[in-house]
Amino acid sequence: MKINKINKINFIIIIIFFLLLGGSISMFKSFEIKNKELSKKYRIPYPAIMAHRGLSYYAPEETLPAYLLALEIGEDLYLEADIQRTKDGVLVCFHDDDLKRTTNIKDVFPDKIDAGIGDLTYKELLQLDLGSWFNEKFPDRARASFKGLKIFTLEELANLAKTKPTLGLYLETKSPQKYPGIEKELVLLLYKMGWIDSEQINPQLLKEKKINLKDKEISSSTYSKVIFQSFEIESLKLLKEYAPGVPRVYLVDEDMQKKYGGFSKLVEMAKSVDAHLGPSGYMGYPWNIRRSLANDILTHHYTINEKYQMRLLRIFGSSGIFTDKANVALQYFFPEKYPKIDVEELFKKIQF
Ligand code: G3P
Ligand code: CA
Repeated sequence: MKINKINKINFIIIIIFFLLLGGSISMFKSFEIKNKELSKKYRIPYPAIMAHRGLSYYAPEETLPAYLLALEIGEDLYLEADIQRTKDGVLVCFHDDDLKRTTNIKDVFPDKIDAGIGDLTYKELLQLDLGSWFNEKFPDRARASFKGLKIFTLEELANLAKTKPTLGLYLETKSPQKYPGIEKELVLLLYKMGWIDSEQINPQLLKEKKINLKDKEISSSTYSKVIFQSFEIESLKLLKEYAPGVPRVYLVDEDMQKKYGGFSKLVEMAKSVDAHLGPSGYMGYPWNIRRSLANDILTHHYTINEKYQMRLLRIFGSSGIFTDKANVALQYFFPEKYPKIDVEELFKKIQF
C-alpha cells in the first residue's frame, strides 16, 4: 500500500518533469525559428559572431594583428571596433576613455596622463605603443612583434577588411557625447568606402554633402556589411536618421536595467530607434530573450569567451555573441566548417 503511494508520487513527479522538459524544448525550438526569421528580415546572420576588438584574447585589442587574425580565421565573423575621434578629426578604433591601460602615455606624454583620444592629435597618438602593455599583462601570450603597435584608424580597418572575405564591420560609437557629429562622419566615410550601400543611406544626407548616389555594389550580399552599436540611445537615433537601412544594436548592462526600471523598459527603448539589443551576458536569461524576440528584437550578448557560456546562451535562444576568442566560437557554432583552428598557424600566416 505504502509502496504504491510512493510509486504514484514518483510517477506524477516524472510526468511533471517530462512536461516541463517538453515545454522547455519546444520553447527553445520556437526561439530558434524566430531568430532565423528575424535574421532574414534584418539581414543579420544567425548566430552572429563578432570578433570583439579583433581576436583580442591573443593579440592587443583593436590593433592590426588582432584584426588580421580574425580575418585569417574565416569569413563568418564581424570585426568589432569602438570608434572615437582624435582632436584633429580622425576616426580611430579605441575602447577606453583614457589611454592609461593600453598605451605607454605615461612615458611619452607624462603631462597628459589623463588624456583621452579626443585630447590628442592623430600624429601625437601615433607616438604611442599599443602593444607592450599586452606583453606585460599576458606574458604567456606575449610576442616581440606586438611591441610598438600603432593606433588603428577606422579607414585602415575598413581597407584591411576588404582584403579577405568577412561578414563586415560591427562598429560602436564609444562615448559619442564627447564627439558631436561623429555619427554623420561615420556613415559618410563608410558609404564612400563602399561598406554602406545606396539603399541603406539617407539620400538627403548625400544631397546635403553633394555626393552622388553610387551603384549598389554591396546590396546584393545576404547580410548587411555594417552593423552599428551604442550604449547611447541618442547616438542610435542619429545613426537611424543618417543610415536607416543599417541595422542598429542598443548595448545595455545591468546598471542600465536598474536605472531604467527593468529589461522590458530597455526593449521599449531599443524599439524606439528600431534597434536590436546587445545585453551583457549576465542578462542572457531565457525570459529576457523571449521578451526581445516577441518584439522582433535580436539579442547579441557580450563578452562571451568560454564554451560553456556559448552553449548556455545558444540553448537560451541568444541571437549571437561578441567574443575575444572568435576561434572558439566558430569551432563551437560551425564545427563542420571549422573543425580545428590553430592560432599559432594563424600567426604564421599573418607573419606576426
Ligand atoms: O560592443 C559590445 C561590447 O563590446 C560592449 O562592451 O565595453 O567591450 O565595448 P565594450
Ligand atoms: Ca564595443
